[in-house]
This record gives sequence, structure tokens and C-alpha cells, in this order.
Amino acid sequence: MRESFGALPDEREVFAYTLTDGRISCDILTYGATVRAIRVPDRDGLLRDVTLGFDRLEDYLLQDAYLGATVGRCANRIGGASFPLDGKTWHLAKNDGENHLHGGLVGFDKQLWSVEEATDSRLVLSLVSPDGQEGYPGTLRVRVVYSVEDAALSIEYRAEADKATLCNLTNHAYFNLNGQGGGDVLGHTIRIFADRITEVKKGLIPTGELTDVTGTPLDLRQQTAIGAQIDADFAQMVLAGGFDHNYVLSGEGLREAAVAEGERSGIRMRVLTTQPGLQFYSGNFLQNLPKGKDGAVYIKRSGFCLEAQRFPDAPHHKNFPSAVLRPGEVYHEVTVFSFS
Ligand code: GAL
Repeated sequence: MRESFGALPDEREVFAYTLTDGRISCDILTYGATVRAIRVPDRDGLLRDVTLGFDRLEDYLLQDAYLGATVGRCANRIGGASFPLDGKTWHLAKNDGENHLHGGLVGFDKQLWSVEEATDSRLVLSLVSPDGQEGYPGTLRVRVVYSVEDAALSIEYRAEADKATLCNLTNHAYFNLNGQGGGDVLGHTIRIFADRITEVKKGLIPTGELTDVTGTPLDLRQQTAIGAQIDADFAQMVLAGGFDHNYVLSGEGLREAAVAEGERSGIRMRVLTTQPGLQFYSGNFLQNLPKGKDGAVYIKRSGFCLEAQRFPDAPHHKNFPSAVLRPGEVYHEVTVFSFS
């Protein structure tokens, strides 16, 4: 199903597509290739919308929290907003102090995507990012496929470049498994299948160390309440104001990365991904947002993100999996959010 979602200031029309498998349904916007809603039955069979979003396009244009958006060309932070590639230094837009965050000032989250294909349960969106956009070398052609099947939303990313460049795509949905607008997520439980995080310094830029989580509040290998130690006096957590860390996922291929559960709804979400990293962000910076869907007020920590990705600042750390994409290569990653 397709509906108009209003027009951008330059009059281009934005559409909302609703995908369903008969159990869950998702709304996807062509603006930012954004996941606007995911409706899932709770333990009593009542549908709850488990992701934060807005009812009006104007409100998406006003905010800078990446609600539900596709983030690129390079998700997460790049220290000093520059990177070396093949003997040259490339300078990127600075939009997070001295650093580059989530693709820059006008990242993929703020662009209008084209519709390639649409069915009741599948939507293919594409974007061409021109050579030099936000400082990145090369033209990047991106396709994102959303499909809904067996109570899961699967997101598949493909990209190709005509010059060596960086590519690191993710989705920035904020989840509240008790239902969006249902207060904070501190009572949710979470489990992340990772023994290490990429340690950060000021500005949340990685030091390059992969630190063992054992014995720290960042150890989420057992199902743990998000709020249990979120304000612990532990340097990495104090720096980030809560959870805002990239977990080094165990294993390879499409495998389970995390499980979260809303204590009031009984809705459980499993995240599977082919990516090496998972940024767990507990919505610490959520504030001053326009009113959300159905008048919801989005307060600090009223949603959490699980952003499957390459490690932050990868171009500056030889020990991190590469985020470089070269001509002739195909960037291909899959992330699945599965509900029960
Ligand atoms: C997250 C990031 C946070 C913050 C947020 C946007 O992905 O980890 O530090 O920048 O995006 O507000």
C-alpha cells in the first residue's frame, strides 16, 4: 500500500509504503529510506508500534536524531572528519564537533530515495550519491531492499562505487518494545552476542583497543535490564552518557547479534546480521524532538538503537574490518529484526 506523506520544500513528493506479512506491518518512507513504524502483536495479541517516528514530514525535516533512517555513506563517527585512502587524505563535512557523523550534513537520511520495486511485502529503494558528496570520493549507487516475512523485517543493502570510497550503511530505528511513546526503555532486557567493544575516548572516537567486557557494565552476554547499570561510575559509560558503544560481534555470516524484550508488552526482538559490529545506543541524546506519532513525547532513553555496521572510525584503525569499497566490488550486508 502506498500513500502520500507530503512534499519536501522543493515540492518533490514523499511516499509511505506499508509492507505486511499478515502478522506485522512496517511503514517505510522514501525520505531517508526511513522505517517510520513497525506494528507487532504483544502478548495479548494487541498491535503495538515498536519504533519511534513522526506523523508529519515537517517533523522529520526538523529533527537530527536519525529516527528510523538509513544512514550513510559512512555510518557512525570518523575522527577529525578526514581519512587516508590510497596515499591521499580526504576531507569530510564536520557535523559532530571536529568529527564526521553518519554521512555528514546531508547524509542518506536526508535524501529522497527512488522506488525501484514495490509489492505488499517488499520494497526496493535506490539512491545515487554523486562523486564528492559530503567530501567522499566516487559515485556510490545504493539499493536497500525491505522485506517482511515470518514476523521479521529484513533489510538488505547493496552498493557499488566507480572510485575507491568508504561505504558503511545501517538503519537507525529507535525501538521501544513496550510501544512507542510508552516511556523509557530502562526496564527492557537486552542481550548482545559480543565479548568486546571498540573502546572510545572523548567525542566517542575509538582508541583502537578492542576491550573485553567481562566484569564491566558493558557485559550484556546474559539477558540484562538496560537500566541496571546504565548510570554506573564506569569511565566508558560516563563518557557516552549511557550505552553508546560498538560491540564486536562474535561469529560470521548472518547470525544472531542481539535479543531485546519489552517487559510490559512481552514483545521480543532478535537482531541477526552479516555485519561485524553492532552499535548499541540507549537514546541518551533524545530530547527536544517534535511530538512523535499519536502525540508521543520522546524523552531521553525512550528508545534504543541497534545499528549493525562496520566499526566506527574504521579508516583510522588497521585492526578494524575495512570500510573501503573499490570499483568492481559489491558491498552486500543483511540485517534482520525478527519479532515474537
Ligand atoms: C547514534 C550514535 C550517537 C548519536 C546518535 C544520533 O548512532 O551512536 O552517539 O550520535 O546516533 O543522535
